[in-house]
Amino acid sequence: MIIGMYYLDPKIKDLYRIFDQNARKDYLRLDLNENPGGLPQDFIDYVLSQVDTRFVAQYPETLQFTEVLANYLGTDISHLCLVNGSAEGIRYVIQAFTSPNGRVVGVVPSYFMFQVYSEMYGRNYVKVPYNEDLTMDVNNIIKAITDDTQLLILLNPNNPMGNVYSDDEFERIIKAANEKQVTVLVDEAYHYFYPKTFIDYALNKEHIFVTRTFSKLFSMAGCRLGYVAGWPEGIKMVQKLCTPHNTNAFAMKFAEEIISHPNVLQSLIDKFNEGRSWLIDTLNANGYDYKGDAGNFIFIKTKTDAEKIVARMKSEKKILIKSYPNVGKFGTCLRVSIGEKKFMEQFWKALVEFDK
Ligand SMILES: Cc1ncc(COP(=O)(O)O)c(C=O)c1O
Repeated sequence: MIIGMYYLDPKIKDLYRIFDQNARKDYLRLDLNENPGGLPQDFIDYVLSQVDTRFVAQYPETLQFTEVLANYLGTDISHLCLVNGSAEGIRYVIQAFTSPNGRVVGVVPSYFMFQVYSEMYGRNYVKVPYNEDLTMDVNNIIKAITDDTQLLILLNPNNPMGNVYSDDEFERIIKAANEKQVTVLVDEAYHYFYPKTFIDYALNKEHIFVTRTFSKLFSMAGCRLGYVAGWPEGIKMVQKLCTPHNTNAFAMKFAEEIISHPNVLQSLIDKFNEGRSWLIDTLNANGYDYKGDAGNFIFIKTKTDAEKIVARMKSEKKILIKSYPNVGKFGTCLRVSIGEKKFMEQFWKALVEFDK
């Protein structure tokens, strides 16, 4: 008689994950690129005033919101799959369009989940590093697209480097990927902070996806909502992986109301721009080196130990920021989310006190 053994996938057993997001309530959170100011309270009250018993009791009206979103993007629903945060969509693209041991190419440093999902499914994640001067040479990306590559992941703009691609650079990369039949995923989580988009490729060509989120400029990270845009056959494959009713009614209601109130979105953009200009001017005036052409975050090279500054900001000022090691010529530096001016002033005051 064979006695059974409990099974655990060794890839999951050995997977490195960080679960540190639950004790952040009382802090000024400038560590995960959320909007610390959030949506106006009167707008939230207005949206919630429409919530009734049926709204909560019934499965969400996913089709209706997908139509609203398709209309907003100038496409149709066959090009869109809603996901419970764009992190979910990224996972499904990796799962469906690569094989065990398959080669996935991505730039580093970047959003960590690309690597986590690749490892989760036993894929071979190949990293293309930035230059010492924090620029990205697209020739290095093109070189990494080998015959056995299955997926290329780009970010427009990249988190945390804040770099972007010109039309010409992007065209060259896409051409190389097409020649080798490599699917491309472009993560546009920080769209709106940087308006240039490659979504038309996803809507008009095959084997290119764009993921977007409502967590960043739309200020809805707590609701969890994102989408994958792509060609209809590809989108169907992503949809097959979704859990039933994967996006919740509150998230879609908030997103629909923001889309239908362009003034709300514009005011979020204006406040962000004011905060960003203020911080950049202040860094310049005080001789700080920084990097971040686009996105709602910035790398700052500190004069003293960046890790100590992060620790003191947390314990003494209740401000959360991140430090990143080995960032080219910056070494270990800070990554700070950009929000409206009052929060940038609060951060700056603390930085002046600790970075000396
Ligand atoms: C580049 C990038 N992609 C995706 C995400 C995930 O966003 P969400 O799952 O909230 O849509 C983030 C979050 O920080 C990000 O920085």
